Amino acid sequence: MKITFATSADTMPQLKARIVEQDKLPADLSPAFLQGAEASRFTGKVGQLFEGFVEDGGVVVRLALVGTGKHGGDERLANLERAGAALAAKYLTSGEKVLGLDLEGSGLSARETASLLTGLRLRSWRWDTYRTKLKEEQKRSLEQVVVFGAHKGAEAAWKVEEAVAKGVELTRELVAEPANIIYPQSFVERCRERMEGTGVEISVLDEDEMAELGMGALLGVSQGSIRDAKLLVIKWMGGNPADKPTVFVGKGVTFDTGGISIKPAAGMEDMKWDMGGAGAVAGAMLAIAGRKAKANVIGVCGLVENMPDGNAQRPGDVVTTMSGQTVEVINTDAEGRLVLCDAITYAQREFKPRTVIDLATLTGAMMIALGMEHGGLFSNNDDLADKLLAAGRKSGDKLWRFPLSPAYDKLIDSPIADMKNVGPRWGGSITAAQFIQRYVEEGVNWAHLDIAGMVWADKPGATWDKGATGFGARLIDTFVRDNCEG
Ligand code: BES
Ligand code: MN
Ligand code: ZN
Repeated sequence: MKITFATSADTMPQLKARIVEQDKLPADLSPAFLQGAEASRFTGKVGQLFEGFVEDGGVVVRLALVGTGKHGGDERLANLERAGAALAAKYLTSGEKVLGLDLEGSGLSARETASLLTGLRLRSWRWDTYRTKLKEEQKRSLEQVVVFGAHKGAEAAWKVEEAVAKGVELTRELVAEPANIIYPQSFVERCRERMEGTGVEISVLDEDEMAELGMGALLGVSQGSIRDAKLLVIKWMGGNPADKPTVFVGKGVTFDTGGISIKPAAGMEDMKWDMGGAGAVAGAMLAIAGRKAKANVIGVCGLVENMPDGNAQRPGDVVTTMSGQTVEVINTDAEGRLVLCDAITYAQREFKPRTVIDLATLTGAMMIALGMEHGGLFSNNDDLADKLLAAGRKSGDKLWRFPLSPAYDKLIDSPIADMKNVGPRWGGSITAAQFIQRYVEEGVNWAHLDIAGMVWADKPGATWDKGATGFGARLIDTFVRDNCEG
């Protein structure tokens, strides 16, 4: 979706949209049009839409009114996003190619305009690559939005948010792609392609290099797959060179069969999105670099495929992690933590960060606890936790905090090794977090985000269609903006 700005309405396309504040219908519209809006009970509630036809300088124009709700309040920007998204959802396959967004007299600030456009852009994303037989009316028609009468700073504000939208789109793309297309190697290649020219520095460790470093847990997961594991590092050093970086670590299991502890067949296809944490990290890095953030941020993605095979690891195997600690692999399906522990150790040893935040579709138990409304947050630091909760509220990628404690920690002690990779059935998301915490080094502020329920949606939401939501990319970007810059 191309979004451009124009100063004169001379070239106003035949489809035009205006925004309407709740209960304040514009007075300059024809009585017939207004009567139509009223008869349809259009009042300008958030995301509500009314369309009709008006005569404008001798030509007939299709005019849409979209509600932005009541002015003011914390929800203002989110409401504008939802209004933009409602326009995209309505006109994406309408047959119209160009939408003229008329903001003359709307009073929208530059930032508010950017939010409206963010909603439009994000809601119009779809991944149709493999749909070769779409009927004409199912195909996307809307290609461009031309904005008229915007605040003079709006274009610059949009440039910033556009970079973020591109990041979210990369996350969605990586998540939406099936596992025969996106596997560790191709995940890396896709990131290289999309990030070319942004100024990020990309490096990759292959299996030999990881073996050299002693990453026995990550490599144990990968052992049953013919696809080689990769550790992808994406660096953006836009801040003061003396500042320690903030590191984000993503679980990138490009397909999770469960391994020898194999999953049931029903729904296993969902496990193509078990790389959603890594996808969020990659998308966020694109956003952060794209808007030239004044911060030092490093993304680390542990990329592996978890397969059953003659060479796969067995339940009961003991692996040695890069940290030197040993793990009894009770269940090969609890593989995410095995990938994360080595990726996190590497990140700490290599980059000496003050803060490490990992994102992972780690446990089904998280979805049982929170459903599809919040990701779970675990942290060893209250201040960091509060900042992440705030970034969640602001970005729309909402989080909810869970506890950690020694009582939970001891549930993963093993009789043969330093720990086992699963605890008892109850509190499965918490024992998973406790496992990861055992790899957090002295003095490091750490948070773990279990986003299992959030990366994929069965129905459309505020700014996404069903499918990949892009969860996490904006959360990270917002956290960096509010806490790591200037
Ligand atoms: N990737 C899954 C978690 C998951 C399951 C995410 C369903 C989204 C939907 C993870 O690797 C896994 O299999 N976890 C197990 C852990 C268990 C064996 C302790 C789980 O949650 O069942
Ligand atoms: Mn698993
Ligand atoms: Zn998994």
